[in-house]
Amino acid sequence: MSDNALYTDLSGYYDLMCADINYPAQSHSAHRFHQLFGNQGKRHLDLACGTGPHIEYLQQEGYLCSGLDINLPMLSLAKLRCPNSEFSLGNMCDFSVDDPFDLITCFLYSIHYSGDTAQLQSCLNSVHQALNTGGVFCFNSVDKDHIDNQLAAKHSVKQGQDLFSFGSSWHYSGEGDKQTLKLSIEKTHNNVTERWVDEHNMVATSFVTLQGLLAPLFDVHLFEHEHDKIQPWGGQTGNAIFVCVKK
Ligand SMILES: C[S@@+](CC[C@H](N)C(=O)[O-])C[C@H]1O[C@@H](n2cnc3c(N)ncnc32)[C@H](O)[C@@H]1O
Repeated sequence: MSDNALYTDLSGYYDLMCADINYPAQSHSAHRFHQLFGNQGKRHLDLACGTGPHIEYLQQEGYLCSGLDINLPMLSLAKLRCPNSEFSLGNMCDFSVDDPFDLITCFLYSIHYSGDTAQLQSCLNSVHQALNTGGVFCFNSVDKDHIDNQLAAKHSVKQGQDLFSFGSSWHYSGEGDKQTLKLSIEKTHNNVTERWVDEHNMVATSFVTLQGLLAPLFDVHLFEHEHDKIQPWGGQTGNAIFVCVKK
C-alpha cells in the first residue's frame, strides 16, 4: 500500500476520520474573509478538495464551486457529494485555469502537500494566476518552529458494528524544509483489529518564510486559527489562517 493510502485505497474512511471537523464553520469563515477582503465574485476553487466538504458548504453560501485534487478516489467521493460541481484531477503545484476564480481555498493544512519550498512557490504562482483581480486565497498553515513532536490527536467513531480509531501527529526534525504528517487508522470488528499507518511528506515552513514567499504576489493577512470568530493572529500560536488578496 502506498504511503498515501488514506487518499487512495482507504479513501472510504476519510470522512469518518474527519467526522469531528467543523466544515460548516470553516467554510463560513472563508466566505466571511472573502466578503471582507475580496472582490465579491462567486467563482470558487477548492485546492486539494478531498471528498469536497468545503465545496458542499460554500455552494450553500451561493458560490459556483470547483475542486482540484491529485487523487482520483477522493474526487470520485467529492463528485458523489456535490454532483453539480466541476472537479479536476491535478497537482496544485502546477495547474492553470481558462476562467479565473474569485476565491481559492486550501484547508486542513493541505498546502503543505506541496512537498518542498520550490513546489510551494510554484503552488502560490499557480494560485496567483488562477485568481481574478482582487481575488482571495484562503488557507491554513502550521509553523514548523511550533511543531511539538510529542503531540498526537486521537479520536474514535463507531459505525455499525465497527469501531474506528484515528490518530494524527506532525513530526519535524528541527532542520530543513520537510516535515511529516503521521496518520493511523484502527478498525475493530468482532474483537479483531486491523491497523494502517500512513506517513505523508510535506513542506515545512515558518510563517515568516511563508509571508516572504507570498508578499510579491499578495497582500497578506494572518488570523488566529479559529473558525467561529475573526481575530488577527497575535504572533504566539503555530497555527494560522492566511488570507491573501491578489496584488
Ligand atoms: C488532508 S486532505 C484535505 C482534504 C480537504 N481539503 C478537507 O479539508 O477535508 C488532503 C488532500 O490533498 C490532496 N493532495 C495531496 N497532494 C496534492 C497535490 N499536490 N495537489 C492536489 N491535491 C493534493 C489529497 O489527495 C487529499 O485529498
